[in-house]
Amino acid sequence: MRHAVFPGGARMRPRLVYAVAESCGQIDVKTATAAAVSIELLHCASLVHDDLPCFDDAAIRRGRPSVHRAFGEAVAVLAGDGLIVLAFEVLAKGEIDCVRLPQLLSVMAQGVGAARGIIAGQAWESEPSPNLRAYHRAKTGALFEAATCAGAIAGGGDPEVWREVGGLLGEAYQIADDLLDALGGSEQAGKPVGQDMEHGRPNAARELGIRGAFRRFEELLTRLVDAVPDCPGRTRMRHELLAQCTRLLPDAQRGSSLLSGAGMLDTPVALGELLARPA
Ligand code: IPE
Ligand code: IPE
Ligand code: MG
Ligand code: MG
Repeated sequence: MRHAVFPGGARMRPRLVYAVAESCGQIDVKTATAAAVSIELLHCASLVHDDLPCFDDAAIRRGRPSVHRAFGEAVAVLAGDGLIVLAFEVLAKGEIDCVRLPQLLSVMAQGVGAARGIIAGQAWESEPSPNLRAYHRAKTGALFEAATCAGAIAGGGDPEVWREVGGLLGEAYQIADDLLDALGGSEQAGKPVGQDMEHGRPNAARELGIRGAFRRFEELLTRLVDAVPDCPGRTRMRHELLAQCTRLLPDAQRGSSLLSGAGMLDTPVALGELLARPA
């Protein structure tokens, strides 16, 4: 379990919890911390299971041997299970007030659950021709939804108005990851690339073409910044979201994209310039 969590990856989802909680203006740090830890544990669990031979059979994760390669398959299944249980225990022990705790439990369960969470997303892969959007929304978007909703709960905001921000962000993030899988070097990724093609998995670049996948990525980013609700930290949040979205893009593509969506920003601006500006 320790091998799966440390030294860790980008910690994107827990940082999103804090960012949304801060943007909402009334952050309860204990609640935000418990939610952030819980969500990262769930994410790490999903990676352990995703790398297993019955899913992607990946030897490398975050630049190191995947858990089953380091400790064997049986221990990896248990480590993933143990992390999921620990995620809920962290919430239980987080000294969260009795109104927020059940809200958080429900949000987390939805993010990983079988109806539209990670379990649904991973199950879509066993279907012959899943809908790419539904698949991405469940596989990746649902946990991002959980992160924004949890952040809103911890920040005194309305979780439902933040749900779409998480869903769109997750969808864009997965498209960037698909592009990385199709175009990137495994050194940048810290994990094997070319896996989707090898395993016949749905992949945005494969389905829409490289250009089409980029267009979808930009469209999602435009919708994403518009979806950020009115809140004290709105401007900073929009910039932070754009910055995070491009982190996963293959190196060669970074900064080449023009984000000129109407109304997204005051003036059309090259992504590279935008990200260099202080929030
Ligand atoms: C990897 O997520 C799985 C996807 C849904 C794309 P991350 O790219 O956030 O992985 P880490 O946590 O940084 O390793
Ligand atoms: C992983 O999706 C998403 C999970 C729910 C674990 P991928 O299989 O596309 O992600 P990587 O490339 O292994 O990180
Ligand atoms: Mg997978
Ligand atoms: Mg994988």
